[in-house]
Amino acid sequence: MNGGGQSPYDTKKPRQRRGRGRGGGVRGAKRELSGYSSTGVGDCYGLNQMESDREREESRDWSSPRASDFDKGYFQSYAHVGIHEEMIKDHVRTETYRKAIMSHRSSIAGKVVVDVGSGTGILSIFCAFAGAKRVYAVEASEMAVHAQEIVKANNLSGKVIVLHGRVEDVSINEKVDVIVSEWMGYMLLYESMLGSVITARNRWLKPGGLILPSHATLYMAPVTNSPRYCESIDFWRNVYGIDMSSIMPLARQCAFEEPSVETITGENVLTWPSVIKHVNCHTITIEELVSVTAKYKFSSMMRAPFHGFAFWFDVEFNGIKPYPANDQTQQSHEGSSVSKKRLKSDELVVLSTAPEDAPTHWQQTLVYFYEPIEVQQDQIIEGLVTLSQSKENARFLNIQLEYSSGGHSFVKQSILR
Ligand SMILES: C[S@@+](CC[C@H](N)C(=O)[O-])C[C@H]1O[C@@H](n2cnc3c(N)ncnc32)[C@H](O)[C@@H]1O
Repeated sequence: MNGGGQSPYDTKKPRQRRGRGRGGGVRGAKRELSGYSSTGVGDCYGLNQMESDREREESRDWSSPRASDFDKGYFQSYAHVGIHEEMIKDHVRTETYRKAIMSHRSSIAGKVVVDVGSGTGILSIFCAFAGAKRVYAVEASEMAVHAQEIVKANNLSGKVIVLHGRVEDVSINEKVDVIVSEWMGYMLLYESMLGSVITARNRWLKPGGLILPSHATLYMAPVTNSPRYCESIDFWRNVYGIDMSSIMPLARQCAFEEPSVETITGENVLTWPSVIKHVNCHTITIEELVSVTAKYKFSSMMRAPFHGFAFWFDVEFNGIKPYPANDQTQQSHEGSSVSKKRLKSDELVVLSTAPEDAPTHWQQTLVYFYEPIEVQQDQIIEGLVTLSQSKENARFLNIQLEYSSGGHSFVKQSILR
């Protein structure tokens, strides 16, 4: 299963996460996470209430895995203001959430909301502005302490209740009408936060309740990116007139061993994308997310060097309707090519991280090959992709790519960590 100078198996090397800093936690947690902090966060409860909640938690019959050391490190990374600054300054992200919340005002006004992973509390406050009766802002990191102060400074203490703890551990003594959460990691599934949204849904959401966002779709497409290849590899051919090409295999290994989070444009994409996973937040289960496999088949729209695959996602804020009638992905099944860009109606709010749309802090996730493959127009590129939670740390993503084109087959394995 080899050809074209392509290495059949790519080995792996640890890499520092960058950008959003969602490394699943590289530092140890400062303190043990518990359902409530000692800082007074979550003080909507009296001490007796907290005591009885704790007793109830201890005797609970729903399964909630304990926070691992990786989880503690993960929450520690969210205690840093820089991550929240980066997310909030991502106007595409934050404005789309605000628009989605405001456009669902009629379902939020007078209702009870839970914000899963509230960070600074920004989405909880948007929900309060949309007229929510009560918002539970659940945040496991120390950022909850600051969220509490922000809520107080905005005179919303009577409406927004900050609960400092994991969604899996805190108690909310009523059913809720709405769940809002910004849970998406790089290539949608990195970070594995969707499982916590599912837990919140199963614990608290009333039948027929609203989840924002309601649906998510992960896409994949073959890409060409010669400048990126030249900048990292061909650079070594002539360095100040010195032939350093002997270093090129090492440069390839270092540059392309692991997935790369970077921004590409629509011009880098060789074909229409394929849907790798569609998520309906109302019905998805935690088990489904452990491993996702999809077949794909592309027909290259041009002759070009094929350098690797790009992954991106979008999420829809679509109420509880399964899909609007004009949604072009309605007919598309996982693994099939989506031949038309999704239509955006007034009712449907979509947050897209596609190469052809405005850039976001998620960028796109690229898996590059060590050697490009020359493809002709209409040449078929097909194979199988498996994305699975890493056994080392369930917040990391193992990516196994099997791909064939022009009579040659390859396998590339990498880890987004
Ligand atoms: C992507 S950030 C979003 C923050 C905020 N909602 C916003 O939109 O700016 C996700 C937040 O969820 C928190 N989080 C992740 N999993 C959680 C869980 N199981 N329970 C409570 N908080 C969680 C993280 O600590 C982090 O602050």
